[in-house]
Amino acid sequence: MTDDVLQGYADAAPELIRRFEAITPALLYQSVSDLLPVVPSRIADIGAGTGRDAAWLTGKGHRVLAIEPVRELRNAGMTLHQATPIEWLDDRLPDLVHVDGSFDVLLLSAVWQHLDDGERDSAIRRLRQLMAPGGLVIISLRHGPGAPGRRIHDTTPEDTVRMAQLQGLAMVRQVRADSVQAENRAAGVHWTWLVFGVQ
Ligand SMILES: C[S@@+](CC[C@H](N)C(=O)[O-])C[C@H]1O[C@@H](n2cnc3c(N)ncnc32)[C@H](O)[C@@H]1O
Repeated sequence: MTDDVLQGYADAAPELIRRFEAITPALLYQSVSDLLPVVPSRIADIGAGTGRDAAWLTGKGHRVLAIEPVRELRNAGMTLHQATPIEWLDDRLPDLVHVDGSFDVLLLSAVWQHLDDGERDSAIRRLRQLMAPGGLVIISLRHGPGAPGRRIHDTTPEDTVRMAQLQGLAMVRQVRADSVQAENRAAGVHWTWLVFGVQ
């Protein structure tokens, strides 16, 4: 992960805040939402953007830590969702050095594509440490072109599954999904949702 990606997000923040907040979480997560816990749980939303999903999950009774390294997005999220008890943290993958505790769900929506292979490998190891017993890691993996100024590193679902298996994680689900954003659909972007549990 390089600082230029985070700078790219900071530079585009005014436009991105609007676009992120326009997404309906129930639609975004429709491929995996049946796997989300139904009892109040501890969730980390990593690369949380404006906290749209953190707010949605908080509304379902979960305790959510929203981890977002870009100050402009974090501040916008704190303001937009100030009525919801989201806990915010400035930290970043792959090391998540400031994160403590264990989580029932570790959510990585639309962030995995910004890590290179070495960072993904380190990140999987760190995510494994942060999983509570019976916990899940949910990752969406972008395919197709990236946005200018926010570089992505191509990878396949199989590579991530292999890395996860080496850390004792078993794939619970792999499903392809169209982009929920019309601009991205038109640009040929689609996604793979991957869900992992402990083997
Ligand atoms: C495409 S946005 C997705 C935001 C949010 N998860 C959503 O679905 O709307 C990618 C997010 O990942 C964050 N990000 C980029 N690199 C990161 C890293 N190394 N660690 C944590 N977050 C990162 C960006 O700042 C941005 O908020």
